[in-house]
Amino acid sequence: MHPLAVIREQLSPLFQEYVGDPSPYLEMVRPAQDSKFGDFQANFAMPLAKKLGKNPRELATEFVEKLQLGEICETVEVAGPGFINFKFNSDWLTARLNEMQQDDRLLISSADEPKTIIVDYSAPNVAKPMHVGHLRSTVIGNTLCRILNFLGHKVYGDNHLGDWGTQFGMIIFGYKNFLDEDQFQQASVEELARLYKLVNQLSEYHELVKKIPDIQKKIESTSAQLQEQEANADPKDKQQRKAVGKLKNDLAALKEGLISAEEKVAVVTSSPELISQANAHPDIARLAREETAKLHRGDEENLKLWNQFLPLCIAAIEEVYQRLDVNFDLVLGESYFQPFLQTVVEELQQKGLAVESQGAVCVFHEGNEAPFIVQKTDGAFTYATTDLATIRYRVEELKADCILYVVDARQGEHFKLLFETAEKWGFDKIDLRHISFGTVLGDDKKPFKTRSGDTVGLESLIDESIQRARTIVDVGDDAKPNPELDESTRQSVAEIVGIGAIKYADLRHNRESDYVFNWEKMLATNGDTATYIQYACARICGIFREVGTNRESLRESDSKVVFTHDAERALGLQLLRFAETIEAVVADYRPNILTAYLFETANALTTFYGNCHVKNEPDAAIRASRLLLCDLTVRVLEQGLALLGIQTAEKM
Ligand code: ARG
Repeated sequence: MHPLAVIREQLSPLFQEYVGDPSPYLEMVRPAQDSKFGDFQANFAMPLAKKLGKNPRELATEFVEKLQLGEICETVEVAGPGFINFKFNSDWLTARLNEMQQDDRLLISSADEPKTIIVDYSAPNVAKPMHVGHLRSTVIGNTLCRILNFLGHKVYGDNHLGDWGTQFGMIIFGYKNFLDEDQFQQASVEELARLYKLVNQLSEYHELVKKIPDIQKKIESTSAQLQEQEANADPKDKQQRKAVGKLKNDLAALKEGLISAEEKVAVVTSSPELISQANAHPDIARLAREETAKLHRGDEENLKLWNQFLPLCIAAIEEVYQRLDVNFDLVLGESYFQPFLQTVVEELQQKGLAVESQGAVCVFHEGNEAPFIVQKTDGAFTYATTDLATIRYRVEELKADCILYVVDARQGEHFKLLFETAEKWGFDKIDLRHISFGTVLGDDKKPFKTRSGDTVGLESLIDESIQRARTIVDVGDDAKPNPELDESTRQSVAEIVGIGAIKYADLRHNRESDYVFNWEKMLATNGDTATYIQYACARICGIFREVGTNRESLRESDSKVVFTHDAERALGLQLLRFAETIEAVVADYRPNILTAYLFETANALTTFYGNCHVKNEPDAAIRASRLLLCDLTVRVLEQGLALLGIQTAEKM
């Protein structure tokens, strides 16, 4: 058991005489902010005393008197208004560390009740190349799979590909009208991507040409309204000031929209080829939609084309997954569930859950204005219908206990309605969770785009990261050129560093927040980065090479960890908190808790290394103990990074 669990286990029964459920109070035992107060601190006495109408200091003392941590803790003390400070016995800590040394799992126990968990992640809409928007789901989802697997759950990482959507109608239309035969022979995926982009661009062009006059009118009316409001508004009236502010914002957004629309139109009109294609196909958007509808109706030609295109698209995204070291257990895209959709709708109707409304079939939920549409007026099934069929499949065929949907926060409403519908439909035992996340932003705090305004392709992002990492590797840590590494090692290290940097930078943010993509920050050799932690590991591996100690034999020797300095104890305690960290990550599926832990561990290592001699320590037992601490630290860091899908190198 990890130190925090030991404290909580001891405390838990003591709550019996005060409250029914001790868990919220046990959550209030946390690592001490300042080590001079001890190792852990509990502050539940204050809220509990308030609830019970007692004195918090007295209540805290009652707890401390009943605790039996004699062997384990050196001191357990009440401080201030009723804090309880715990300081572990150093002998107890070193005994745990010596156990940890012998344990492949680094004292992380497997789940008591292993579950079958589906992690629905990545799920790009294929036919378009993968872009930066796909990064977060891919990286967070893959990390959760790795951690849940490590804990002994049965995990299915499932790539619920968007392989049946309107984008295929666009490609099919493009194929029929704009195909470059030679290009398609030589580089089929690139040609399909070009066709998709072209049809999308021409459709958008016609749409915008129609919309621009409306936007202009809206701008005129809004500025007139604004002028009037400003002339008449009483500056002391908060309500009126607010209204003016809102109008100003609306106007700015409209103007921005107009500029971007005009820019997009200009791209087409300024190219003789594009404008002639646009003029030749005024109805392109409708016709592309018609191709999708034909595909969905089972049209032979379109189905044949779809069957020809899909493997090509999958091969292209597969390449990105390989570079990111991401593997799925299942790839069941939307198309897989098409045969089941009719039955889903019928069943929902029979149960009285779904009803017809304005020609569509909808499920209404109390307190929610928008219905959950399962069949549209034209008879087409929806994203929602597919997700319902997928839940049934996962429960009935895969025996899932839990499904984690690692999907953009913007789909929050969809998942809320999906989960409610599934529950009423009868899937009320499965634990359904939206693991939502924010957006990757550029320096301008808007969704990350290239200078020309395109989305950033994932391939080029990976290329650039590796290239930048290569510069770092060439220079070496501490700006000393590293003559130790030959050309091919440098390149493979650059790949590990480059990919690690992208993943870590994504994972280290609270998943619900947006974050700004920043190359310098994410590749810093000193900072909260994978690079820093990778260098810390490589440095320790270097020490072992220098002293000529084999790490495995050291572990098997009689040497033991002993503390002779505060920095050793701090590092040791930090290492013992690995298990607690993994528990906290899976409690709410938050990988940033693990990155923060690894960063702190690397910092504790740096402090230890700065204060305690390792190579030059004359006392053999102390030296061996320090080497053991080094070994264990690298194992924790490497295991932690591996759970994040990040590799390390022995030499950097
Ligand atoms: N393909 C969808 C998109 O790009 C994401 C799918 C997420 N998974 C799901 N079961 N709905 O927006």
